[in-house]
Amino acid sequence: MKLAVPELLYTHPTVFAVGKDYQIMVPVKRDTLMSVKCGDEEYFDDSNGIMRSKCMIHRFNLPQAVLDEAKEYTLCCRPIIDRKPYFPETEDLQTFTYAFCPLEKTQDIRIAHLSDTHGLVEPPVARALLDGKPDILLLNGDIADHSGNEENMLVLFRLASAVAEGGVPCVFSRGNHDLRGALAERLEQYTPNANGNSYYTFRIGCVWGVVLDCGEDKVDEHEEYGHTVCCHAFRKRETAFLEQVIADAAQEYAADGVKYRLVVSHVPFTRHNRPPFDIEFDIFDRWVSLLREHVKPQLMLCGHVHKNVLYLPLGENDAHGQQWPVVVASVPKKDEAYFSGAHITLNADSATVEIKDNADNLLDTWVLKL
Ligand SMILES: [Fe+2]
Repeated sequence: MKLAVPELLYTHPTVFAVGKDYQIMVPVKRDTLMSVKCGDEEYFDDSNGIMRSKCMIHRFNLPQAVLDEAKEYTLCCRPIIDRKPYFPETEDLQTFTYAFCPLEKTQDIRIAHLSDTHGLVEPPVARALLDGKPDILLLNGDIADHSGNEENMLVLFRLASAVAEGGVPCVFSRGNHDLRGALAERLEQYTPNANGNSYYTFRIGCVWGVVLDCGEDKVDEHEEYGHTVCCHAFRKRETAFLEQVIADAAQEYAADGVKYRLVVSHVPFTRHNRPPFDIEFDIFDRWVSLLREHVKPQLMLCGHVHKNVLYLPLGENDAHGQQWPVVVASVPKKDEAYFSGAHITLNADSATVEIKDNADNLLDTWVLKL
């Protein structure tokens, strides 16, 4: 049975995995003070000790161990009546408790992968829930068509809310269309990130992953962007980040308990594209070689091309010598309310990828050795 969304909230909260923390994010309809109680602790959405209320989306950072043990958290909300300098007035406290399912198993891990939803909600949600609630929900970019208005910024939360209902760990990765529009420069206020960076590592139980962000898909000077992007410099910073992840291997992909190593990227940068998308050969070559030599990922999950395809090592789409399969999945068709995409089941030394559409038609199955 679907969990009803409280009137005060646009959607259920979403629990994003970032680094070794969870970021619980909640979009609200009205100015509201908010905290989260979990275990014996209370976590506040504050600015240097001042509780925030002038924001559409609240965020709480919790150590994963706290929520994994408690298996539930409670949102504590006080809507603002008048935030005057003295004796501000608020409505009565409203609390909403959510159950949470930490990933505790090491096999039969079911990942729902949605990318390129481009504003669609019901078809991708239907696809993601075909086989019941997944263990992990991965939202891999181009979630809305652009970041030009707040309604588009809510699409991520509408998808995650309907699939995860606040109880399943989620991962977000930015797509190239997310970089466009007036709110794109403030995307970090609306999406999970690591100290403002859209590239980061995450841990969900025995699954470790790195989210890499290619930014835009053409050169910065392309007229479509009108001087608004500087992704080349951004990608160079990301190379330094990847080198630092490798320097910290013992706390990252080589840490105790890591069984699966994933790369998540909206753009499949392992492939070299036709013009005008044939950018950054050297940077992407460096990323692939760092991953190949050090991280040794077992699987990479991508979207961007609006096809459900598999790019294998040494295949025609392997431009840089990748040594892992790249699952490229998600086909949206807005006019037909159609969406097809991948479910990935991790099982010890194999991954089974099922491509289905929202009407439960099985389009493809790939069994990959990890
Ligand atoms: Fe797309």
